[in-house]
Amino acid sequence: MFVPRRLVRAATLSLRRAHTSAPALNSVNAEDIAHFSKFLTPTSIISTLSPQPSPSSELAPFNNDWMNKYHGQSTTVIRPRSTQEVSEVVKRCNERGIGIVPQGGNTGLVGGGVPIKDELVLSLGNMNKVRSFDPVSGILVADAGCVLESLSEYLAPHNHIMPLDLGAKGSCQIGGNVSTNAGGLRLLRYGSLHGSVLGLEVVLPDGTVLDQLSTLRKDNTGYDLKQLFIGAEGTLGIVTGVSILTAPAPQSVNNVVLALPKFDNVLPLFTKAKRQLSEILSAFEFFDRTAYDLAVKHGQGRALNEDETEGAECFVLLETSGGNKDHDDEKLNGLLENLMESDEPLINTGVISQTPAQFSSLWAIREGITEAVSKEGKAYKYDISIPLAEFKHVVDTTREHLRSKGLMRDDAVKHVIGYGHVGDGNLHLNIVATNYTPEIEAALEPFVYELVAKYKGSVSAEHGVGVMKTHALHYSKSDTSIEWMKRIKQIFDPKGIMNPGKVLP
Ligand code: FAD
Ligand code: MLT
Ligand code: ZN
Repeated sequence: MFVPRRLVRAATLSLRRAHTSAPALNSVNAEDIAHFSKFLTPTSIISTLSPQPSPSSELAPFNNDWMNKYHGQSTTVIRPRSTQEVSEVVKRCNERGIGIVPQGGNTGLVGGGVPIKDELVLSLGNMNKVRSFDPVSGILVADAGCVLESLSEYLAPHNHIMPLDLGAKGSCQIGGNVSTNAGGLRLLRYGSLHGSVLGLEVVLPDGTVLDQLSTLRKDNTGYDLKQLFIGAEGTLGIVTGVSILTAPAPQSVNNVVLALPKFDNVLPLFTKAKRQLSEILSAFEFFDRTAYDLAVKHGQGRALNEDETEGAECFVLLETSGGNKDHDDEKLNGLLENLMESDEPLINTGVISQTPAQFSSLWAIREGITEAVSKEGKAYKYDISIPLAEFKHVVDTTREHLRSKGLMRDDAVKHVIGYGHVGDGNLHLNIVATNYTPEIEAALEPFVYELVAKYKGSVSAEHGVGVMKTHALHYSKSDTSIEWMKRIKQIFDPKGIMNPGKVLP
């Protein structure tokens, strides 16, 4: 009786200690590079410490994030070709206490995929093979480094589609998508990755390969460990393989951009669209006037005619996907007629795509907002879940707050915009500034997070926590939740080598 109790108390104490002081980490050195050279091909190592040092320009794309907001000083990028190689690299880092940053397509928007200091970057891009696909069940098993768009292209001849889609599809990787629990444009229809991912292969922080690459739809044998890695942002291990349920390609798709006279009409429109389109409604995306204007200004998609946008306060992109063109067209046309004919029309007008090129062009306006914003200036991106009814209020309140601080001027904050996934209750509040400055950041934080907390929302709906929001986690998670997250981290990664400084405060 006595001995176990003492053991329990000791374990509790060591957990507490781990919370207060993160273990010191070591830098990669020339001996590590020599060790890696024993089992990796020379092209898998990019390092300024190699006998033939790589120029720092080769490391730059791995040290800087997509927005050029977060910057690391890693000396070494490792690009393994197999799970076994990942495991060997991780074993060495674990022994030596070297921090590892897993990196996919480096399209993340919260600074999670780049080092904070000189951690080793483990880039998955060389692991890019489809392992298997079953056209009957639709289950795809792929290396983590497969680019999302290339998986969509692989599936197309098999009449299947990926259950997720995002503007970054040309660069982001399925391992990165899983690790961020990416949402995107198809979540309304196919749900989150917590549902569609069936299994994962993960290299744990001590180098052990956890093979949970199940291809079963149903498996109720105890704790579902894979869920821990979905959205863990590389803090618990390195995802090397993904088993995912893909969807049959719809036989008929339509999309339409609707111009609305006022934001207040968005919710009644959503309610109507859900009721009238029911099972064929596959996306309901929103962007305000400024977001639209920026997309057009920076050449994203084909602009609508001026008379189609006149007097519009905001826009909705609505997509239908179904199995019978006549049936789907009839339903969509019915909705549009109903919208136009009512005494107080919810929309001013709408543009419906007639060809695949027009379909893509309408989507390009919505998907291109992120790129347009980055061309316009430096973006402070808040990716929040709040009640739908508050979308406009939050954007307006933030703008007014910045105005009251004297920051709404061309050499400080140029625009405050809102867009996002109405169907998922996810607003993207973007503050487009001329430069990233401490003054603007201080005006925005904790202001925005407090607004979110007021509505019991989430400070990260889909982009994750990364390095950007570690300090803001408590606005959306209770102390008890954070404590248990820390305990889980401690169990998997007692040395704290996996993506240090990310997710947990
Ligand atoms: P990275 O940026 O490389 O990494 C992201 C995080 O995952 C990091 O913490 C990294 O350490 C970790 N990670 C990456 N690969 C692995 C791995 N194999 N194992 C363990 N950890 C790993 N996000 C959305 O949710 N919805 C959107 O609609 C959306 N649209 C976007 C549009 C654009 C134009 C851009 C630039 C970004 C968008 N994003 C969106 C954000 C981003 O694309 C997603 O978060 C994406 O899932 C990141 O994938 P990645 O491969 O680029 O990961
Ligand atoms: C989007 O919905 O466009 C993405 O999440 C990217 C962004 O927030 O800019
Ligand atoms: Zn989004």
